[in-house]
Amino acid sequence: MSTEDPLILTEVVDAVGVIRLNRPKKLNALSPALIDLVAAQMERWDADPAVRVIVLTGNDRAFAAGADIDDMTERSAVEMYERDQFTDWDRIRRVRVPIIAAVSGFALGGGCELMMLCDIVVAGDTAQFGQPEINLGVIPGAGGTQRLTRAVGKALAMDMILTGRMLSAPDALAAGLVSRVVPPEHVLPEAMKIAQQLAARGSIAARFAKECVLKAFETTLEEGVMHERRLFYMLFATLDQKEGMRAFADRRPARFEHR
Ligand code: HXC
Repeated sequence: MSTEDPLILTEVVDAVGVIRLNRPKKLNALSPALIDLVAAQMERWDADPAVRVIVLTGNDRAFAAGADIDDMTERSAVEMYERDQFTDWDRIRRVRVPIIAAVSGFALGGGCELMMLCDIVVAGDTAQFGQPEINLGVIPGAGGTQRLTRAVGKALAMDMILTGRMLSAPDALAAGLVSRVVPPEHVLPEAMKIAQQLAARGSIAARFAKECVLKAFETTLEEGVMHERRLFYMLFATLDQKEGMRAFADRRPARFEHR
């Protein structure tokens, strides 16, 4: 790879925006510049009605092996604070269209945290997951202590974060960290298949559904249920609700217009 090679590769396939992390020689180590590019591309697509789902992937060896350690080694606390690089991770968190992670190989540290910012995770059966920051004298910094705990529960999160041990794909599936496990060669095709299915459905409903599930992490049960209820009612103002329910009555496939 030359120094001019782009850090990410992007394409739009039908209504699906695909981002491939592209630092293969560094196992897709997540430099601040790379995360900024991912966030900016996702924001552009989020504002583009022609893109209704995003797929984020790496390569066969690594989704991403973490934040770029070389970039952090000699930095001071003040430099880290002033740089405030995690703000760019929050930009990814605010993307409204569903994001599917297609994960092969390592998803470690920031790579695991980036994956947890995605909404559906398709993993290859040889993928490995972990938060090994403890081995570097630090802790997860992009939400890992919070999102991993919410995803897999306290006991397993403590085990992974305190010991740095890696989880296999079947164990990650059993723990609720990933959505589906498939043979490695099927990871991207399966993610694209899900993405196309999602893109064919009403995109307002898809975004509302994502918003409600994420709300479950942020609020009380009662407030979350009320939030869901308000968005459910609001969907009756969309053409897609009428089309979806009428198509059911007519025994024909719905033709959603995302309006
Ligand atoms: C920078 C990295 C890297 C990383 C791998 N590389 N991970 N460079 N940052 N996170 C580089 C290696 O230095 C090496 O470069 C090349 O990628 C291939 O890696 P190898 O170690 O030779 O491969 P292998 O022996 O197969 O081991 C794979 C591995 C190991 C087990 C994944 O690379 C590893 O432990 N990586 C670090 C994992 C980690 O600690 N992640 C957490 C980072 S901290 P050269 O030039 O030597 O070929 C973090 C904090 C999150 O994520 C905070 C929020 C952002």
